[in-house]
Amino acid sequence: ALPDRCDFTVFGGTGDLALRKLLPALYHRDLEGQLPADHRILGVSMSDLDDAGWRSAVRAALVEHVDPTDLYDGAVDRFLARLFHLRLDANEPGDWDRFHSLLKDRPHPEEAVRVFYLAVAPALFGAFCRRLDEIGVVDDRARVVLEKPIGHDLESAREVNDAVGQVFAEHQIFRIDHYLGKESVQNLLVTRFANTFLEPLWNSHWVDHVQITVAETVGVGGRGAYYDHAGALRDMVQNHLLQLLCLVAMEPPTYVGRETVRDEKVKVLQALRPMSPADVDTDTVRGRYEAGLVDGEPVPSYADDLGHAGSRTETFVALKTEVQNWRWAGVPFYLRTGKRMDRRVSEIVVVFKEPPHSMFPGAEGVTAPNRLHILVQPDEGMRLHLTAKEPGPGGYRLRPVSLDLSYATAFDARLPDAYERLLMDVMKGNPTLFMRRDEVEAAWTWTEPILRRWASSSERPKRYPAGTTGPTAAATLLERDGRTWQETD
Ligand code: BG6
Repeated sequence: ALPDRCDFTVFGGTGDLALRKLLPALYHRDLEGQLPADHRILGVSMSDLDDAGWRSAVRAALVEHVDPTDLYDGAVDRFLARLFHLRLDANEPGDWDRFHSLLKDRPHPEEAVRVFYLAVAPALFGAFCRRLDEIGVVDDRARVVLEKPIGHDLESAREVNDAVGQVFAEHQIFRIDHYLGKESVQNLLVTRFANTFLEPLWNSHWVDHVQITVAETVGVGGRGAYYDHAGALRDMVQNHLLQLLCLVAMEPPTYVGRETVRDEKVKVLQALRPMSPADVDTDTVRGRYEAGLVDGEPVPSYADDLGHAGSRTETFVALKTEVQNWRWAGVPFYLRTGKRMDRRVSEIVVVFKEPPHSMFPGAEGVTAPNRLHILVQPDEGMRLHLTAKEPGPGGYRLRPVSLDLSYATAFDARLPDAYERLLMDVMKGNPTLFMRRDEVEAAWTWTEPILRRWASSSERPKRYPAGTTGPTAAATLLERDGRTWQETD
């Protein structure tokens, strides 16, 4: 289906997210002919730009962020012609009136669905929604898109959700977790539920444990002001990693519908083992990067990136949790994420149990348990580690081998960026891949005891040199259970 004809407003239209992600994503969809003819994109920001000024900033952003083979003059010009910019000071009622006029200033304004993408500081979500309501531009069909973080703990998340909820009904609210738009993440549901061979094994009888890793090589760069108040637990675990965990652990819904998948995910969040202060001490590891070498280049420490020492914020987290339900009881889920790691890789590894009996003498120590690696990025695909017989007449010599599926090779197609799928869903009014209020709040409910314990503890995050796999305590977290982190080769 084509998306609704929209007036798609980006508040924060000159910001990093808009220029790096949102506008290139909309351009790609326009290139594919998926934006209706009179679909407008309105940029609202504090910048003193006219339409032409914003268009040239967006043109430069497309040149920087879109593959040159996808940039055609005609297509770029057609896309830029959809763009209009308004300078808005949120405290100036006159500016909001001008925004109102801009929305009205089109043929058949009542027919366009209004989308308000709030790529602004989350503290402004409530106030912006109130303003939109006051100027009378929110009707039943309007939609609002919220970037994370939704709050910094349960209470503040509830406040944001309440404030937004006073203006928009839940079905009009699209809370983005861009991990849900990644091709390999969407494929997780298909792998699990459109095939038969995995599902019978996908439980505590056959799975030894699950690992979820989201490692980045970037540091906090210019985002220190935000990041230092967030830290890796709020920035990555509370949302992206828990969402991945939900997709791995959830029960099959009857069909993929607006609420069915989210109903199942929220049950997983509610089944996560609550962390007592003692659990936090034993089952979580915080780290912070020091100066080091990433890809052979020297990079500064977190303190130097911030410009001051004394911060207690973590840039790395590893933890162990469990989904306390019939399917997963007793199966540890190990999660880790960090900045300035040795490489950029996101993956889920399901490690299966050893065969119940070894009938090949001498195979001990040579073979490894079966593992399914779900490669989220950078090379999307799957790898299944098996044991095979080495060819030759000399008896059974067993060796590990792998079955590899690379999406790029299997489909010979460009893999769209997560935002392309998610923005199309917003424009079609499909919230399946967005976080519902109860999901966000359940994720905070589980995260909060960790934050509280860390805040009250005198211990500081453990140091790790940039360009490594994190503090050694992260390795110990698994080693004490007789396991190791599985690094993809
Ligand atoms: C964002 C975080 O949500 O995700 C960033 O705020 C992080 O800190 C980013 O770098 C990672 O996204 P991706 O798609 O590059 O893995």
